Amino acid sequence: MARIAVVAGDGIGPEVVAEARKVIDAALPGVEATEYDLGAARYHRTGEVLPDSVLTELAGHDAILLGAVGDPTVPPGVLERGLLLKLRFSFDQYVNLRPSRLWPGVTSPLATVKPGEVDLVVVREGTEGLYAGAGGTLHRDTPAEVATEESLNTRHGVERVVRDAFARASRRERRKVTLVHKTNVLTHAGSLWARAFEAVAAEYPDVSTEYQHVDAAAMFLVTQPQRYDVVVTDNLFGDILTDIAAAVTGGIGLAASGSINPDGSYPSMFEPVHGSAPDIAGRGLADPVAAVLSAALLLDQLGHADAAARITAAVGAELAARTPGEAVRTAEVGDRIAAQVAA
Ligand code: NAD
Ligand code: IPM
Ligand code: MN
Repeated sequence: MARIAVVAGDGIGPEVVAEARKVIDAALPGVEATEYDLGAARYHRTGEVLPDSVLTELAGHDAILLGAVGDPTVPPGVLERGLLLKLRFSFDQYVNLRPSRLWPGVTSPLATVKPGEVDLVVVREGTEGLYAGAGGTLHRDTPAEVATEESLNTRHGVERVVRDAFARASRRERRKVTLVHKTNVLTHAGSLWARAFEAVAAEYPDVSTEYQHVDAAAMFLVTQPQRYDVVVTDNLFGDILTDIAAAVTGGIGLAASGSINPDGSYPSMFEPVHGSAPDIAGRGLADPVAAVLSAALLLDQLGHADAAARITAAVGAELAARTPGEAVRTAEVGDRIAAQVAA
């Protein structure tokens, strides 16, 4: 039976993860889940963010379920970089998979799109780009201060994520991949991405391709999200575009993701797209659907496609039965979805 590690994290993380675990237990009884106490509380208590011994233990699991990381009482970046990005990088989770669909029963803020019309997936590069941590500060706290932040792009890293995007597209109905970058300004990285994209495209003659600059893609995601099937893009562009995609498909509370190591040499990690939402934490108001759908992605990745499909169907029933504008109660949503899965 699957052995998963659970990193509930901060803010609403533990609230939504508790519901995702209920649903996993209903869909696949016997999954062995081990909780890891990581995040702001541990940092304040011990000063530790992610000890090497814990990283080694996590590596021994089949997958990781993560809630959210980040807290207003901890300086920005300490937990985001030291915990979340350290996991993504250490476990070579180079495919950051972020599907967005407009579910029946969910209202988009866009008057022009109807349920069923948006079904896209962003394949966001997960281990390079501006997230690589290259850069530095000179003359700190002087008027001459200079800060640089460099984007790291390797042919190996770009080609493998682009290949994953094409492989996914070839299994989907529309078989289309859109490369999003900023080749008109970022001429070094942009050229590498464009050439890698062209080379991989030649291996997939049945997949159609297009290219868009990221500013145009941000606009089209809002005006015409229907046009996208698979979008492949770099780490930061993918971060921003997936919040937009979440917003147009009913909100960040529904957006699931997987930080995937397709090679299987390390565990993949499944996490909502959203953060720790300090503004609503501790009140039972967070929508757990993003965490529940992330758990479905996790089970699917571990070969439990049936259990994953039952969770997805139960989420569909939950969303179809919602009254627009009505407040969400975290535990009630989890209970209803778990009951539906078990039925
Ligand atoms: P956020 O996603 O936490 O919140 C943005 C807005 O969305 C808030 O108004 C919040 O209440 C709402 N929201 C988020 N999830 C929701 C849910 N499940 N149900 C209902 N509403 C929800 O983003 P932020 O405010 O920019 O960041 C807060 C903290 O989270 C920061 O420390 C940030 O670094 C961190 N963060 C972590 C992750 C992660 O762990 N994967 C992702 C994004 C942000
Ligand atoms: C996300 C988050 C993270 C990211 C942060 C918290 C490091 O915004 O998962 O989208 O930028 O990848
Ligand atoms: Mn983000």
